[in-house]
Amino acid sequence: MISEELRKAREFEAAYEPLVPETERPLFHVTAGVGWLNDPNGFSVYGGEYHLFYQYHPYSTHWGPMHWGHLKTKDFLKWERLPVALAPDRDYDNGGCWSGGALELPDGRQLLMYTGRRTQEENGVEIAYQAQCLAVGDGRDYQKYEGNPVLTAEHLPGGASPYDFRDPKIWREPDGTYHAVTVTLMEDGGAVLLYASDDGFSWRFESVLARCRNEYGAMWECPDFFPLDGKQVLIVSPMEMRPMGLEFHTGYGTVCMIGRYDGAFSRESVRSLDYGLDFYAAQTLETLDGRRVMIAWMQNWATVACQPHGIRCFGEMTIPRELSIRDGLLIQNPVRELERYRVNPVIYRDILVTEEISLGGVRGRVLDMTVSVAPTSESGYRCFKIRVAKDGERETVVQYAPESGVITIDRSRCGAPYEMPHVRQFLARPQSGKLKLRFIMDRHSLELFVNDGEQAASLLLCAPESADVISFAADGGIVRMDVEKYGLEMP
Ligand code: FRU
Repeated sequence: MISEELRKAREFEAAYEPLVPETERPLFHVTAGVGWLNDPNGFSVYGGEYHLFYQYHPYSTHWGPMHWGHLKTKDFLKWERLPVALAPDRDYDNGGCWSGGALELPDGRQLLMYTGRRTQEENGVEIAYQAQCLAVGDGRDYQKYEGNPVLTAEHLPGGASPYDFRDPKIWREPDGTYHAVTVTLMEDGGAVLLYASDDGFSWRFESVLARCRNEYGAMWECPDFFPLDGKQVLIVSPMEMRPMGLEFHTGYGTVCMIGRYDGAFSRESVRSLDYGLDFYAAQTLETLDGRRVMIAWMQNWATVACQPHGIRCFGEMTIPRELSIRDGLLIQNPVRELERYRVNPVIYRDILVTEEISLGGVRGRVLDMTVSVAPTSESGYRCFKIRVAKDGERETVVQYAPESGVITIDRSRCGAPYEMPHVRQFLARPQSGKLKLRFIMDRHSLELFVNDGEQAASLLLCAPESADVISFAADGGIVRMDVEKYGLEMP
């Protein structure tokens, strides 16, 4: 039985989704059917395919009562839209179906766990409680579980807030038991809680897995916890970060902790997950062939009001990224399936660069381009700049200063007429002036992968698609450069 709220959302989506002009969507990055999209949810395998749900408000391009939008894919690039999966239609989720996870049950059904936000008036003030709820379905239609909510204030450890208790990520262990991580707020900031279940329906509190201890932001959001290459990784998206060197910037951030888990989680390193301007609420899955793949919302809560007039669709996901660990660092690279969509290779080797130059065939806004630079033996260089999405008026600049190791991304002239953060800097690992940068561009986004995935930086840019010039320049010396550029096409 479909509720009135879900029926209405499905009808709305069916009527308005076809009206979103294709030019308003990227070619291969996930967007909402229509309206607003935020966090990825329920990124998981079901029936041999990869399903992705997302925080969705179909009725406007602004955040509102949250639904779960839904798509699936076989290769992370070509997505099939499915009808809205969840709408806020019960007392326990009257304030929205917030973020969560999904998995496949042994009986072939799909289990979703989401945060039900219940609002009620207490002494004339609206109070919102958060609790974890379940829905079960066949990959298209879902029934909310009669035992909802399954994780409530009763399942919180002392000192944890029932007003901030959300974003369950669930998985099934090889031994058939289930686990979930959620976030909550404790007296010293955000915390990640671990829960366990024998059947996926009845849950018990296990432990406080990690605590902010006033170090990394305030409230944490959207946790994920997974083994990778012999280590254990915990990711969270903290609100209200304070800057720390060039590692963490002010505001909404993402944090990756690598460590060990033996009943308790011990951190060995804490770093930014993405060093760009637009990245939040990452979630991962394990692919059918054993890869750990991550997707995130390519946006920053601080800038969601910066929307072009008249758009019908707002928000997009990052490209799904394969994760691994190398030399203690989290390595991320676009899923290898992307290579199947490459067309028209343009390859240059050993180009000497000083003054700003462009290269024949190297331009575009939907592309996969790798640029490798090294100082020539005759001279070092002070600064190397790559300008993209450029025309007479606009440009987005990525620059590298080998002496300090600092990479700067600057979109202040990208065409965005808004007061918002435009510049971000981070430290690349010292490479003696050698650097490899991979640019993935899909119309209005740029994802940068540094030195074979040691760091990633994601950002949105506004220039019209006609701004497609790319140029290279070196200050204070000569750079030897290789460029390998492909267009990307969806057959
Ligand atoms: C993160 C978040 C989550 C919440 C959802 C609501 O972006 O704030 O914590 O579940 O968005 O849409």
